[in-house]
Parts: sequence; structure tokens; C-alpha cells
Amino acid sequence: MESKEILRVENLKTYFEVSGGLLAKKQYVKAVDDVSLSINEGETFGLVGESGCGKSTLGRTIVKLYEPTAGKIFFDGEDITAIKNKDKLHNFHKDCQLIFQDPYASLDPRMTVGEIIKEPMEIHGMYSSNEEREKVCVELLETVGLKPDHIRRYPHEFSGGQRQRISIARTLALKPKFIVCDEPISALDVSIQAQIINILKDIQKNLNIAYLFIGHDLAMIETIADRIGVMYLGHLVEVGTAEEVYHHPVHPYTQALLSAVPVPDPVVGKNKQRMILEGETPSPIDPPSGCPFRTRCLYATEVCAKEMPVMREFGGHMAACARLGELEEKHL
Ligand SMILES: Nc1ncnc2c1ncn2[C@@H]1O[C@H](COP(=O)(O)OP(=O)(O)OP(=O)(O)O)[C@@H](O)[C@H]1O
Ligand SMILES: [Mg+2]
Repeated sequence: MESKEILRVENLKTYFEVSGGLLAKKQYVKAVDDVSLSINEGETFGLVGESGCGKSTLGRTIVKLYEPTAGKIFFDGEDITAIKNKDKLHNFHKDCQLIFQDPYASLDPRMTVGEIIKEPMEIHGMYSSNEEREKVCVELLETVGLKPDHIRRYPHEFSGGQRQRISIARTLALKPKFIVCDEPISALDVSIQAQIINILKDIQKNLNIAYLFIGHDLAMIETIADRIGVMYLGHLVEVGTAEEVYHHPVHPYTQALLSAVPVPDPVVGKNKQRMILEGETPSPIDPPSGCPFRTRCLYATEVCAKEMPVMREFGGHMAACARLGELEEKHL
């Protein structure tokens, strides 16, 4: 069965103005710079890239926490880039949610777990009575593996993993169609991470929710994502199925990122070719001309400095590199 597209962004840009002093020329951090992608219902799109490459900014722009500088966002077939209509905006915020990295900062310490989970239902006028909302709240606690009597407790009485479960329950209260998960397990103990991932996977199976799942760890992202997008300096540089991007990356940056992933098998480890990422990531205020990765790329030539490579299909995925094809023979 063809699944339906739930989200599409076209040529999205989010620039932040940074002040360079009273008389200085205005400068912009090009946090997201011309990103296009689409996500289907029930799909997990994994987004990876080094710190500062614009992952969170992209996620936050999609859920309308940030105003895009340019480009378009379509949700469930509707252009929501500039909606001002209160009701439509209200509905959008119900359907499209964000789970944060830090489960400590995202829960109000003065509210009980029940109040935290019921609050979005109240704001969105869901269910006719408090009793009904309380009942749904108990069901949600069960869904995320917590107990009904946790409803009267406060966030500080819980561990990090349990708090992230509370955040997930609060998010689910609105029955969203799409959730941006911004590194939801990065702040948790490794032993707890798999539990949270399993909860998110189960929920997705039952409710057909789409995820934009942001993370650093490509090996982890590969296990949860259907497709993976790799970001560098505000740009999406490679997109493909998780399997393809992880096992047969074609963009030099993705290859370098993967070389940084420790290889558990010593035999594979020895034979693996390595392109070590050297040098600093350039500033997103003053990015390089042409390909954003060229200043750190082993394979960059003159042409890479001249033109921004466009995304094109190669070997079953999309990548933005002027030398695709040539490198395939040399490197892989
Ligand atoms: N509100 C803001 N104002 C100015 N600059 C910002 C703002 N938010 C982010 N930036 C800058 O935009 C760039 C992208 O930041 P972002 O937080 O999106 O990166 P990230 O990929 O999520 O990084 P990390 O992996 O560390 O979470 C960075 O250079 C950051 O300093
Ligand atoms: Mg981030």
C-alpha cells in the first residue's frame, strides 16, 4: 500500500540574525539553508549530522517554533508556512508535536504528572469532563510503561527515563500525526535508551505516527529509521533508506561520519578505509563558496568551490556532491 505524505518542506531556510555592533553590517547564522524533504505517515525519518549543523533548528522550524526565512512547509497536504488563522494554527499544534532532549527541563516541577499530561487536553478542549481526561491519562501512563498511581506524583520523584516517558505521554495526549523527536534519548543512560526507543516504536506501530528522529549516533538511528538524511552546515547532503545510507554511503561526508563510528568487529575494523574528519567545521555565518563540505573533503577539486552541488540520484539514494560516481570507484 502506498503511504500518504504527511510532511513536506521545500527549500526551507532558517537564518538567525546576529548583531555585529551598532554600525556593523547585519550578519546571519544560516542554520538551515535550502533543505527539502518529505516524510510519509507512519514513517521514521532519521536526521544526523555533527553538533551545530542545524538539526534542531530544522525540527523547530517544522513545528513552527521558529519562523522560516524562506521556503515552504506542507502538512497533511496544506501549506502551513504562513498560516495566521487561529483555529488552523491550533489544529496544527495538536497534530504536530516536539519531544525534547532534556526530560528534566521540559516538565514543570510544580505540576503533578496528571496535571502535566492533562494540560494539553484541556488547552485543546479534548474530552468533556475532567474524569474522562483522567481516564485517558491513566491509559497513557500505561502505554508508556508507568503506573496509574504515578498520576499524583511530581516530576522530581522520577528518574530521567521515567521523565522522558511522562513527556511522551503528554505528547500522545493530543493524538498527533507527526512528532519531532529531538535527541530524545541522548541524555539518558544507555541501559534506558533501548526502552524509550521501544516505546516510541510500539506507539508508531499502533498509531501510525510519523517521526522526524534527530540524533548523533548513526548506528542507533539506523535501527529506528526507515530513511536517513545527513546534514552538514545547514544543508541536507545525502538522503536514502537507512540500510543504504548506513551500509553504502555515497557522499564523502557521510562516509567520514561513518568512519567515526567504532566498528565492533576487529576484522572489519582493520580493512575499513578511513577518511578522518579533519579541520574545523566552517562558520554558518560565513560558509564556504560552492559545496559546504569542500574545505574538509579529501576529494574536493576546483569545481567544488564554484558551484553548490544539487541533490541528485545516485545508486538508489540522493546526494549533493559534484563528484558522485567518480568517487564510487575510488573510495568504496
Ligand atoms: N536562537 C538562535 N539564535 C542564533 N543562532 C542560533 C540559534 N539557535 C541555533 N543557532 C545556531 O544555529 C546553528 C545550528 O544550531 P542547531 O541547534 O540547530 O544545531 P544542532 O544540529 O541541533 O546541534 P546539536 O547536535 O548540538 O544539538 C548553530 O550554529 C547555532 O549556534
Ligand atoms: Mg540539536
